[in-house]
Order: sequence, then C-alpha cells, then structure tokens
Amino acid sequence: MSERLVLVADDAGIRRITVNRPDKLNALNADTLDALQTAFDEAAADAAVRVVVLTGAGPKAFVAGADIAEMADLRPTEGRDFSLRGQKLMRTIETLPKPVIAMVNGFALGGGLELAMGCHLRIAADSAKVGQPEINLGLIPGFGGSQRLLRLAGRSATLELCLLGTPITAERALQLGIVTRVVPAAELEAETLKIATQLAASAPLALRATLDVVNIGGECGIEEGLQYESAQFGLMFATDDMREGTRAFVERRKPAFTGH
Ligand code: COA
Repeated sequence: MSERLVLVADDAGIRRITVNRPDKLNALNADTLDALQTAFDEAAADAAVRVVVLTGAGPKAFVAGADIAEMADLRPTEGRDFSLRGQKLMRTIETLPKPVIAMVNGFALGGGLELAMGCHLRIAADSAKVGQPEINLGLIPGFGGSQRLLRLAGRSATLELCLLGTPITAERALQLGIVTRVVPAAELEAETLKIATQLAASAPLALRATLDVVNIGGECGIEEGLQYESAQFGLMFATDDMREGTRAFVERRKPAFTGH
C-alpha cells in the first residue's frame, strides 16, 4: 500500500519522495499520511540520504489538501486524531536532521501548503497556486497551517489566506515569504535538483546544526537562542568537516565533506 501512495527514489545522496495519488491531485488521506510518515522516518535514519526532495505526482498538483471525501464523515474525536496525525508528520519533516526541499509543482492547498511549510525550502513553479481554503469547507487548517503560516508570513497574510480561503499565485507567495523561490514551470525540476545537489555536497553536521538553531531559535528568546547558537558553533570545531572546510579554503581547493 505505502509503495503505491508514496514513491521513493535515491540518486547521489538525494532522496526523492513523491506523493502518488495524481487522480485525486495527491490529496492526503490517512494511508498517505502514514506512508509519508514512514518515508520521512526512513530518510531521517539513513545516513546515505543527505537531502530530501518532496513533490507530487502528475502535472497539476503538489498536494491539493487533506482528503475531503475521507474527512466528510469524521466525528470530533476522529477529526482531532486526523489533525494530530498530520501535525506529527509536518513536525517530523520540520525537525528532520537534514534539509527537505518542497518542489511545488502545482496546487499546494490546505494540507498541501501545510506539508510544504513543514519543509525547509520551497521551490515553486510559476504556475503553482497556494492557499488555505479550509474555510470554504467550514473548517480551519489542521496540520499546523495556522501556526506555520503565522511564523513564515505574519499575522496579516495568515488572516487573509485563512479567512478568505482564496488561493494566491506563486509570485504573491514569494512576496509574502511563503515560498523560497519561484522558477518557470519548465525549469522547476532542474532548479530544484541544482539546489539539492549543492546541499548533498555540503557538510551534513553543519546543515543539521543550522536546522537545529533555526528550529529552536524560532521558539525561544534571543538570549537562549544566542546561547544555543554558540554551543552549536563550538560543537562544529569537533568535526572533521570543519577542519576539512577551513583547510580546503586555505589550500584553494573544493572541500570533500564526509559527515564526521
Ligand atoms: N480531497 C479529495 N479529493 C480531491 C481533493 C481533496 N482535497 N482535491 C482534489 N480532489 C479530487 C477531486 O475530487 C477529483 O476527483 P474525481 O475525479 O474522482 O472527481 C480530482 O481530485 C480532480 O480534481 P478536480 O476538482 O476535478 O480538478 P480541478 O482542476 O477542476 O480543480 C482544485 C482543482 C484544486 C481547484 C480543486 O480540486 C479543489 O478545490 N480541491 C480542493 C482544495 C481544498 O479545498 N483543499 C483543502 C482541503 S482541507
């Protein structure tokens, strides 16, 4: 089941995870959430994986949201459990010890935008549309969208997107800080792979420390954040990769990082 709903492929340290329900615009039902959870747990545990690229199958959608048909008959406690299941996945992605890039190849609506916002970088096709349209269903975001959008783009944009429910263009999402970059749709794959290749060759422990300090720093005061940054900075001096990176600079050659 999980193989069909989510495809996993490896190439030179880059793990590509593809949500694979193109006939339903990759809507997230419970089984797909579970398959994604497994895929990300495995990516976290596998040292050969340096970076993850997450995308949706087919030409139209990254992910068009949580599965509306599956949600239609849920009772309150089941709705809460569905929300917790989605939130757990997004948090797993956000706190993964390696970078995750969302390759936003089309609609990223509701749970789809929430999934993309759990990722560390969002590269969007210029044709993509993003939004939190749950209000049109008498719902609110349930996979962390209200909280991550608030942190990414602020109160004004969050209230606009969540109250009106109207999707916005990739370009507007870029202006609001919701996506990292917008590229022509025809170049999405190549541009994303270029970034993934750069990250795959980068120093894994420093990448991890960067993700850690940003994740922790986003949730604590400046003093604690600065303390944590210096502790992580100091820790880097215990790594082979830091010696290699600084020596390679002095010797005017490209560093070869090993993750040690
Ligand atoms: N949940 C379940 N099924 C979904 C879905 C979702 N979130 N989004 C799309 N689908 C299904 C459609 O029901 C349709 O299935 P069918 O062919 O068996 O009827 C199929 O995917 C194609 O979608 P369709 O609506 O025909 O495509 P479109 O190009 O006309 O419209 C969208 C595209 C994205 C505008 C439209 O599908 C949509 O509004 N989706 C819901 C978005 C949403 O509200 N997401 C938040 C959910 S909390």
